[in-house]
Amino acid sequence: MSQLVLAKLLPDSAGLDQGGELHIADRNIRELVEEYGTPLYIFDRATIVHACRGYLKALSEHYRASGVRVIYAAKAYLAPHIARLVEEQGMGLDVVSGGELLVAQRAGFPMERVSFHGNNKSESELRLALRLGVGRIVLDNWSELELLTRLACEEREGQRPRVLLRIAPDVETDTHRYLQTGHAAAKFGFPLGSGEARAAAARIIDQGVLELVGLHAHSGTMLRETRPYEECLERLLAFADGLYDDCGWWPKEISPGGGWAIGVPGQEEVPGVAVLAGALQAGMERGMGRYGQGRPVPELIIEPGRSIIARAGVAVYRVGARKVTPGGVTYVFVDGGMADNIRPALYGARYSALAVERPLAASEERVCVAGRYCESGDMLIEEAELPRMREGELLLLPLAGAYCLPMASNYNLVPRPAVILVDEQCVQVMERRETYEDLLTRYGEL
Ligand code: LLP
Repeated sequence: MSQLVLAKLLPDSAGLDQGGELHIADRNIRELVEEYGTPLYIFDRATIVHACRGYLKALSEHYRASGVRVIYAAKAYLAPHIARLVEEQGMGLDVVSGGELLVAQRAGFPMERVSFHGNNKSESELRLALRLGVGRIVLDNWSELELLTRLACEEREGQRPRVLLRIAPDVETDTHRYLQTGHAAAKFGFPLGSGEARAAAARIIDQGVLELVGLHAHSGTMLRETRPYEECLERLLAFADGLYDDCGWWPKEISPGGGWAIGVPGQEEVPGVAVLAGALQAGMERGMGRYGQGRPVPELIIEPGRSIIARAGVAVYRVGARKVTPGGVTYVFVDGGMADNIRPALYGARYSALAVERPLAASEERVCVAGRYCESGDMLIEEAELPRMREGELLLLPLAGAYCLPMASNYNLVPRPAVILVDEQCVQVMERRETYEDLLTRYGEL
């Protein structure tokens, strides 16, 4: 693989050391593996910091319509260290479960900067959110609206929990079917066209138990074009205009969600976040011009996940057996696979790979990089161009920072990988490698 291609996929502090081996933040990957084993997920602190700052800078330069808050979507990858990092950058956190909420709490994340999403939050999760005092709860459906209203009366006397109403904006997106979330048949949010969204907002305003601070939508993820964001903002503002006429309510905050794509091998480049910021400005201005004249411009909230964390993380596997089949496919097996990265099997996501000990070696063959799990679909890369990998060598998959570990499972009862965060100063274990003991204790005694 050429230096240029490498540089685009790898974390910011990755490079080659004098021996031609890969390192991240001056740490030789082979040596990290000697200490922490494989599969190993390595996150580069600098890349995360640069990505957070990149968003803040792009928005400060290209978005001037109103104030703006950037909220990291924890579902892309969360550990207490990541929550701290994001907090240090002055950003908020979007969580979708009691588990993510508790990680945020463990990291000492300021709860007023946390937004709680989810299409089916349980009563105990909502109680936890209220008790911890999360900043925003994003209401997704009628049952939740009723449940939260009841809980708010019980749990927080005198205080009105702040909520956003999640809207399905019915915006078209050009992404994998499973990654679309804002269409009229989506499982998330109140549909716009049916009048339900308006009825829900009116209910919250009339009851006065919850404080409706704004509107939220999320059209999809891996979005490469800005159109859905602009359309989404316009639709939310048009909706708000109707509500203003009905109830005199106007949003203080508005969010078109997250979803900005990252560049992946074999696909055209994704514009930088400055382009997204410019589009948000255009969408807000146009929407306000049409639907909000004379009213205050709502604060903008955006929720990037993948575009903050994906390139910061790499997965390192050890190559095991190799198998040449009469059917024409040559397999190179690695010691991880679909249980730590389900994305190729689930979405047809494409990854590339490189040999850690000789990253610049010319490609010699086309192989299928397959995992260790008992499943034919357990292929990390169906067709990878690689030097001839020998058993015991290390293979690295770039762009593994987002949505791999959060969707990891214990399929075949294999313990989950270790995860480390590196910079020039230190290596921190974000998640220790799972042990057989961890797995077995869940069964209790016989
Ligand atoms: N906000 C909301 C309400 C979301 O539902 C999501 C992602 C985000 C923000 C962050 O989107 P991002 O900037 O990371 O694209 N497992 C899939 C991705 C599912 C994303 C779900 N929601 C994958 O591996 O591609």
